[in-house]
Amino acid sequence: MRYRGLLIAGLILLVGGVIGLGLLGSGLFNPAPVSAEVARGEWIFRTGTDPDTGQPIPYAGGMGMVMGCAGCHGPDGRGLRTPMFISPDITYRNLTDPAGMVEPDGRRGPTYTDELIRRAVTRGLDAEGKPLAWPMPRWRLTERQWQDLLAYLKALP
Ligand code: HEC
Repeated sequence: MRYRGLLIAGLILLVGGVIGLGLLGSGLFNPAPVSAEVARGEWIFRTGTDPDTGQPIPYAGGMGMVMGCAGCHGPDGRGLRTPMFISPDITYRNLTDPAGMVEPDGRRGPTYTDELIRRAVTRGLDAEGKPLAWPMPRWRLTERQWQDLLAYLKALP
């Protein structure tokens, strides 16, 4: 029975191959696919320009140059400390924390909703209606740009 060993080895390879392909197909080893909306939102977050036209998104206040949220809130959105300003963690997880967002000084602030985040970004008012300090810009976002940006804030870990 010289072939028996070979046969068994062949079977093991076959079964292993099928399981391996199955795992690959199941996406277990693939990173989660990023939706187009999230990718567009990330573009806005990083560049401050429209993903379709490349045109800067207009704003009032701020620093008067083309920059995205990342320029002031950090590449991960968790906020920055600079000599000129301190910016908060604007991940969706933090802003909408039911116990209140964690402010840069570690204290708990208000809890944002989607609409209150939108108001902060477009009108420069915090969740309690008080004006946000310079240099937080007031962005003139289209409906699409807002939806994309919100999707990305939600996707930030
Ligand atoms: C030029 C710097 C700058 C840019 C660019 C900027 N921010 Fe801000 N942002 C700030 C600062 C500083 C604050 C804190 C203001 C304060 O404490 O009153 C802030 C506050 C906020 C808040 C309110 C959080 C709170 O503490 O209540 C939100 C939400 C926010 N930013 C979102 C964004 C988003 C989204 C973008 C991009 C579309 C953006 N910011 C771009 C500087 C910036």
